[in-house]
Amino acid sequence: MTFSEYKDKRVVVTGASSGIGLATARALVALGAEVHGLSRSKPDLDLASFVPLDLSDPISIESAVSAIGGRVDSLFNCAGAVPMIAAADIMKINFLGTRLLTEGLLELMPSGSAIVSTSSDGGYGWRNHLALTLEFLEITTFDGGLAWYEANQASVGHAYAYGKEALNVWTMQQSAVLIGRGIRINVTSPGAVQTPMLEAIEGAYGTAAIQDSLIPSGRRSSAEEQVGALLFLNSESASYITGINLPVDGGHASTLDIKTP
Ligand code: NAI
Repeated sequence: MTFSEYKDKRVVVTGASSGIGLATARALVALGAEVHGLSRSKPDLDLASFVPLDLSDPISIESAVSAIGGRVDSLFNCAGAVPMIAAADIMKINFLGTRLLTEGLLELMPSGSAIVSTSSDGGYGWRNHLALTLEFLEITTFDGGLAWYEANQASVGHAYAYGKEALNVWTMQQSAVLIGRGIRINVTSPGAVQTPMLEAIEGAYGTAAIQDSLIPSGRRSSAEEQVGALLFLNSESASYITGINLPVDGGHASTLDIKTP
């Protein structure tokens, strides 16, 4: 699979300044795509445009959507907040802002376009809170969603895991709606990926905090190893795949399902 179809495609990558987003944007530039990078800081890449974005701020999101303007063939939501910042900010960046940006860009996306977001192995517990999450997702506003999370935080747990759970369930819901417009939407779930985010997590909580994610592969992924799954899901090769959560975690999800000895 060469992904040559990305040549001249107009694509948007959030989080393009670091880690998985940077590796994805770099790969798309090399494939000849017209890459528009959205992030907090400008990467050293030959982008068609760089648009500053703060996913915790609806005004910044609105102006980023306006700056993108024309047709969007492919959206890669790779931006994300570390688990150590305030819970409200994590929910804003990892779910509420990501949803708001995606909804804005969807207005620019034609039939045949596709969206993929980086969720996390931290979101594998989405079934545990499904009834509450369906209630949460009925609140479609940014501020209303934040208020719901703050009122229900004790029941649904840490904002990092819960933000990813909400992203997974919202993606499933949206897939059923968007397929009617010929648009696909999926997530990947990375395990431990050697990026600045992982370094920050280890710095804050110690290496023990990521040990479970290394079962059974015994190693971390590079950022580049995450890119193929993202490119595949937004490509024509995945034209009949929507609403899925693709683990890119060295087999970790399977061990949770079957309790490998
Ligand atoms: P990273 O920290 O290297 O990059 C994060 C990117 O998000 C940066 O470009 C940053 O500017 C952007 N960002 C952060 N806050 C933002 C905000 N308020 N507004 C706009 N952009 C913002 O992180 P990494 O590792 O590349 O993570 C990418 C995605 O993968 C995230 O969603 C993360 O949750 C997910 N992930 C990462 C794992 C890992 O081990 N590194 C494991 C599982 C999921």
